[in-house]
Amino acid sequence: MMTVARRTRAMTITYRSDCVGLASSDLEALFLSADMSGRIGEKVLRAFLKSAYVCIAYDGSDLVGASRAITDGEYHGIIHDVVVRPGYQGQGIGRHMMEQLLLRMPVWRIMLVARAGAEGFYHGLGFEPLSNVMARFSQ
Ligand SMILES: CC(C)(COP(=O)(O)OP(=O)(O)OC[C@H]1O[C@@H](n2cnc3c(N)ncnc32)[C@H](O)[C@@H]1OP(=O)(O)O)[C@@H](O)C(=O)NCCC(=O)NCCS
Repeated sequence: MMTVARRTRAMTITYRSDCVGLASSDLEALFLSADMSGRIGEKVLRAFLKSAYVCIAYDGSDLVGASRAITDGEYHGIIHDVVVRPGYQGQGIGRHMMEQLLLRMPVWRIMLVARAGAEGFYHGLGFEPLSNVMARFSQ
């Protein structure tokens, strides 16, 4: 699908809105590089493939960022697994991926779980804390 090239400081980053060419091993390594464990192999790739929208960032053929969203297309959307490889962080890649997901998802409410320390990043994109959120986890 469509790719968009954007120049950051010294490199051109290409963004894809699909999972074509995305390898589970590269995806797993990307999350591990940012200390986001639990995103394992084929399982994390399947999660990206089944998501309504993805935005994936490449420097050449190197995977440097990923993000995905689930939505009903009308009221609700949830953004998950936003990550930028260390060394590429702080150059606008995360913001661009988020903006692409938000653009494609014009719904009433979009939610996400911010990792500790990442709240300011999401706040800059218009997200606010929500006090009455509840969640149930499998054992
Ligand atoms: C959080 C993360 C996705 C941000 O991506 P990034 O490419 O580094 O961020 P950007 O360069 O696009 O930053 C966009 C803006 O957010 C700000 N920002 C980035 N990370 C921030 C943070 N942790 N806290 C506060 N502000 C932050 C930047 O200063 C920038 O501000 P500006 O637009 O006013 O200049 C990335 O740093 C990352 O992958 N971190 C490790 C994994 C992680 O925490 N993921 C989030 C899971 S919920």
